[in-house]
Amino acid sequence: MNRATILVTGGAGYIGSHVALQLRARAERVVVLDDLSRGFRQAVLDTPLVVGQVGDRDTVLEVLRTHGIDTVMHFAAWTVVPQSVSEPLKYYGNNTCSTRSLLECCLEAGVRNFVFSSSAAVYGIPAGGIAAEGTPPAPINPYGTSKLMSEWMLRDVAAASPLKYVALRYFNVAGSDSAGRVGQATPNATLLVKVACEAAVGKRPHISIFGTDYPTPDGTGVRDYIHVEDLATAHLDALDYLRGGGASTVLNVGYGHGYSVREVLASIERVAGKRLATREEPRRPGDPPALVARADRIRSELGWRPRLDDLDTIVRTSLEWERRLLRDPW
Ligand code: UD1
Repeated sequence: MNRATILVTGGAGYIGSHVALQLRARAERVVVLDDLSRGFRQAVLDTPLVVGQVGDRDTVLEVLRTHGIDTVMHFAAWTVVPQSVSEPLKYYGNNTCSTRSLLECCLEAGVRNFVFSSSAAVYGIPAGGIAAEGTPPAPINPYGTSKLMSEWMLRDVAAASPLKYVALRYFNVAGSDSAGRVGQATPNATLLVKVACEAAVGKRPHISIFGTDYPTPDGTGVRDYIHVEDLATAHLDALDYLRGGGASTVLNVGYGHGYSVREVLASIERVAGKRLATREEPRRPGDPPALVARADRIRSELGWRPRLDDLDTIVRTSLEWERRLLRDPW
C-alpha cells in the first residue's frame, strides 16, 4: 500500500484546487474529496475525484483506507461571513462538526499529517489592526468561531494521538493560477478583488466601497491581500515540515502589509486600463477597520518564500481569470 497519498478535501474549490495543482506538479499522489456544492468538477482537472461529504464517515473512511492516505489537507468549508451570521448552525455543522468527524476518521485510519485551512477571522478586531499568532483569538462572527473551534479540536487531538498538524490562518486571498487553469468561480461572490474585477469586465454595473470613515489613512478598510499561488505554496511547505518531523503549529499566511479598498480599486483601474464606477456606502456590519498579518513566523518555521507579493500581479491574474470566465463560463 502506498502511504504517501494526500487527501485534499474541498479540492474542487478556489484554494483547494490551486493546492492540488501544485501537489500534482511536484508528482505527489492526490485524491480530491468534494461534494461539488460550491466547487467545480473542471477545477479538479485530471486528479482523482471522489464526490462526497467530509461529514460522511463511510465515504471518508473508505477513501482514507483505499488510497492509503497519510496526509489530509482540509479545505472544504463554508466561507461567507455574513451568511455565517444569519445561518450560524450551518457553519458550526459544516465547518466544525464535519471537521470533528473527519478527525475521528483520520485517527481510525492512522493518518499522520493534517494541514488545516484556518482564517484570520479567528482574530476578530486585534489592537492596531495587526495580528500575530500569539494575539488572543476573539472571532466576531460564527465563521471565525467555527474555524477556531476546529483549531482547538486539532490541538487536543494532536496532544492525545500521533497525528500532527499545521493550521494556516489565511488573510485575504485573491488572484488565480498564473497559467489560467483554475480560479475563483463562486457565484454571487462577495470578496473585494473578485467583485471589483467582475465590475471591470462588465459583469457588474458598479463596485460598492463599504465604509469611508474608518480610522485608516484614506478612510477605507485595510487588508493583507495574498496571492492564492503563494498561499498554495505554504501548504506544500507545511507538508514538507510535517514529513520532516516538525511539531504541530499554527501560522499566519499573509504578506505582513496591507492595502486599503481604494488602493485595491486603483490597482484594478491601472491594470484594466479603465475607470470603475464606485459607490460609497456605509460600513458593512462586522468588518474590522484593518487586519494585517504579523507574518514572520511562517518564514522562519516553514521556510516559506512568497513570489507574488505585488498588488498589481494579484489583480492582473484575477482580471485574466474573469475574462476567461466571460469567454468560457464554469
Ligand atoms: C472575510 C474574512 C475572511 C474570509 C473572507 C471570505 C474577516 C475578518 N475576514 O474577509 O477570513 O476568508 O471574508 O468570506 O472576517 N469591500 C468593499 N466592497 C465590496 C467588498 C468588500 O468595500 O464589495 C471591503 C470590505 O469592507 C473590507 C475589504 O473590502 O474592508 C475586504 O472585504 P472582503 O474581500 O469581503 O474580505 P473580508 O471581509 O476582509
